[in-house]
Amino acid sequence: MFSQIKSMFREQGSEPDRIGSFFQDGKLLLDRLDALPEPMSFFPTGWMTPLELQVLYNAAKYGRGDFLEIGTWIGKSSTAIALGRRDAGDWRTRKYDAVDFGFVSLTDFCSALAVGMEYAAQDEIARPVLTPGGTMAVLMENLRSRGLLDTVTSVIRGNAADVPVREHYGVVFCDATHNEAEIAVVGPMLSRALRPGSWLMCDDIHEHQHLVDALSKYVTFDFFHLLTHSDSQSKAAIGRVKATAAHKPR
Ligand SMILES: C[S@@+](CC[C@H](N)C(=O)[O-])C[C@H]1O[C@@H](n2cnc3c(N)ncnc32)[C@H](O)[C@@H]1O
Repeated sequence: MFSQIKSMFREQGSEPDRIGSFFQDGKLLLDRLDALPEPMSFFPTGWMTPLELQVLYNAAKYGRGDFLEIGTWIGKSSTAIALGRRDAGDWRTRKYDAVDFGFVSLTDFCSALAVGMEYAAQDEIARPVLTPGGTMAVLMENLRSRGLLDTVTSVIRGNAADVPVREHYGVVFCDATHNEAEIAVVGPMLSRALRPGSWLMCDDIHEHQHLVDALSKYVTFDFFHLLTHSDSQSKAAIGRVKATAAHKPR
């Protein structure tokens, strides 16, 4: 009966916004979040903190509509999203598109991310890039070996600015907002893919107000919660979209 009511709400596009219930006055209430269902040792290597993974897991589990991830690398964040979708149980009907440059060469890595070869040559970077099939192959194997590949609808290799994505998403996780240049690349597509009421989570944006300001040229928020307020190790932020350059508020 409950699942019938849930699917009726879903068809009408009026399900309760569960992500919103994690916040009070724009502040995240940690005790409302479900715990991660797996220990940290389950996750591939990457740059997300336990709290960031927990928020992503809950956003994927309770978010409405389709999910877009920009910047998978080899799947630490993707694993949290996939677990959330698995535990929500509706991953066959809600889409999850995962986008990354998908590097197969260290020179491409350096030029796309504006870093030097010394950085790219670190084992953590060079090993997946130089694996046959590059970082996208490692991403898919990491999801497959954890029994999660089925929960991903599309793995898209390319620049998020111009790959084919859906018209809009209920939740977007973007790990490509590290500087103003990256925000200028992904901003226009975020503006198109988000709607008022959608959720956007970004990593590595909290430290510099000028990055939040740069993002606000494309997307504004009812509130944009910086996870560093809950955990000083966390660099991510999550907010409910108020308006975008492409879409006015409801
Ligand atoms: C910090 S890493 C992501 C880490 C990952 N989320 C994790 O949990 O470990 C940033 C990723 O964003 C990707 N990226 C940056 N800008 C992009 C763009 N415009 N289009 C597609 N991918 C992009 C890079 O290729 C890189 O894999």
